[in-house]
Amino acid sequence: MGSIKKRILSGMRPTGRLHLGNYVGALENWVKLQESAASATAAEVFENFHLIADYHVLTTDLDTSAIYANTIEMVIDWLGAGIRPEVSPIFRQSQIKEHAELFLIFSMLITKERLERNPTLKDQVRDLSMGETIGYGHLGYPVLQAADILIYKGEVVPVGEDQLPHVEITREIARKFNTTYGPVFPEPEGRLTQFARLTGLDGQAQMSKSRGNGILLSDPPPEITAKMRKAVTDPQKIRRGDPGRPDICTVFTYHRKFNPTEETEIRAGCESGQLGCVDCKMRCASRIAEFLAPMREKRLYYEAHVDEVKDILNEGEKRARHEAQKTMADVHNAMKLGEV
Ligand code: TRP
Repeated sequence: MGSIKKRILSGMRPTGRLHLGNYVGALENWVKLQESAASATAAEVFENFHLIADYHVLTTDLDTSAIYANTIEMVIDWLGAGIRPEVSPIFRQSQIKEHAELFLIFSMLITKERLERNPTLKDQVRDLSMGETIGYGHLGYPVLQAADILIYKGEVVPVGEDQLPHVEITREIARKFNTTYGPVFPEPEGRLTQFARLTGLDGQAQMSKSRGNGILLSDPPPEITAKMRKAVTDPQKIRRGDPGRPDICTVFTYHRKFNPTEETEIRAGCESGQLGCVDCKMRCASRIAEFLAPMREKRLYYEAHVDEVKDILNEGEKRARHEAQKTMADVHNAMKLGEV
């Protein structure tokens, strides 16, 4: 049976080391899609392109001093999680200047009112208490993201829920371009992961870097244990013997994801009161540590071989640039720009 090959484009802003929420919400899915080619029965196989959105960092933070170090940390996490750069190029947005060129053209194809209606932007403006002001580049965040995706003719965009509005804007821009100048771009499809978000250790809806309520992929086992000790559980379960409610317990959500074979037993133990929270947390911490062990090992290797990480970026950037240049030639042709 022939399978259809699709180009994946996904990325993250380089803000430093990744936590389990980043893994579960995106990275795990990237790796799964990357490995689809190995399955003989897959109806679709994918070719992954992974972007480091360093320009996007500037939309909310003008301080660029940490971007490089954060980029290296993030790439090491990607490699640790199983991204294979020889098949899935990894590259920085800022090093492929065609992104900026396509962003300029796309900015002509969408209205300011449409961008102001973007719910992800509204949430961000509220969270950052930015009042009524917003940078011109920040308003254009999804336009740059559309250029990121479409310059590689990305067809599938595996992202978390909050990014779906951006994928929708990407589709609108692709459609507008295609009807105005001719068919150059696919209309990409956003794909959510099954576990779109992971609860924070503090019981907040989401692990987030700024809240510091997550377990990092790079955390050594004692750190995982220490963090887990402080994790929020059912407030009504005060001592062992008290019956607990797993369905409102943060630690139980981690058991479901990282310890599925013991899920039933843990639930029963919690509900009957036979299992105390400390034991439950320690079992969870050791499962997570086991889960992360192979990633940590790969991570340690790359930490000791940063030159290899730099080569990986270099190679990825060459490959990405080549693709981006091909697309820009199509764009210029369709728009009849540069004819002599
Ligand atoms: N906006 C994405 C985030 O914050 C990062 C990103 C930039 C991205 N360009 C992209 C994601 C292109 C997918 C495709 O997570």
